[in-house]
Amino acid sequence: MPDGFADLAQRQRLDERVAVITGAAQGMGSEHAWCLAARGAAVVLVDINDADGEQLATDLRERGAQASYVHGDVSEVDSWQQIRTASLEAFGAVHILVNNAGLLSHRRIRNTRREGWERLLAVNLKGPAIGMQLLAPDIRDAGGGAIINVSSAAGLDHHPDPAYTASKWGLRGLTKTAAQELGPWGIRVNSVHPGYIDTPMNDFASDELRAAKTALLPVGRAGQAWEVGELVAFLASDAAAFITGAEIAVDGGWTSGVQATEARRVPAGSVSGD
Ligand SMILES: NC(=O)c1ccc[n+]([C@@H]2O[C@H](COP(=O)([O-])OP(=O)(O)OC[C@H]3O[C@@H](n4cnc5c(N)ncnc54)[C@H](O)[C@@H]3O)[C@@H](O)[C@H]2O)c1
Repeated sequence: MPDGFADLAQRQRLDERVAVITGAAQGMGSEHAWCLAARGAAVVLVDINDADGEQLATDLRERGAQASYVHGDVSEVDSWQQIRTASLEAFGAVHILVNNAGLLSHRRIRNTRREGWERLLAVNLKGPAIGMQLLAPDIRDAGGGAIINVSSAAGLDHHPDPAYTASKWGLRGLTKTAAQELGPWGIRVNSVHPGYIDTPMNDFASDELRAAKTALLPVGRAGQAWEVGELVAFLASDAAAFITGAEIAVDGGWTSGVQATEARRVPAGSVSGD
């Protein structure tokens, strides 16, 4: 029982914590940054889109947050070394890692090409693995913290693209392994599984495909990026102190059972690769 209501709210605060967020220049990553910064965290924004990443850091600072931008390709070990150095130089520690950067492709098993497969797996799966390996000792040395891996509803069920599905199932499994190994270091590791979220990643979708997908959802609409950011911020905070190794859907009900049969109603030809 806490002393008062202020202590309850304090559990969700992230003051004096430093969060590294990959793929932060747009879409969900930028909303993770806003949600973490709103709770007091200093945020290190990582992306390959320097213009939007720098602009977001400026916007956050103008609103009183501590924020810096670092160019980094998460598939490269050298980039992660630079991300680590820049984070420690800017804020002196790392407590939170949000592995959010990701690529989507629109192939099928029959027409997947090796280069595309390897690039997607390198960004979506190898990247988070390198990031955890490199930053976990710093998080331990900072007194512990949290890692949030942004998988997908595709990591709970499927996506038509085989590389995307494999990468997101892989990240879900990697999360379990990391949770077990890093628990004794005071690091919690969880995966979040967004469903259909309004971000530039879905700009490819025709109005017809979008309507077909959202009609399947119990909530009847696409998700907003901030709705995932709120879950990420909760998992990063002490309010989630007993949650590790978990996989949490934030998908408007997509994986609650309707999709397996209903997805077949999505019109053929509306996804490239059909
Ligand atoms: N939008 C959705 O419906 C949805 C659903 C489920 C899961 N996801 C996952 O959520 C995460 C964020 O997706 P989003 O919708 O915001 O995507 P997005 O395409 O809008 O943004 C992705 C960001 O990652 C950056 N990025 C790409 N490759 C990178 C690399 N090698 N190194 C560093 N940064 C890189 C991009 O520049 C971009 O800023 C991804 O992992 C995605 O797979 C998205």
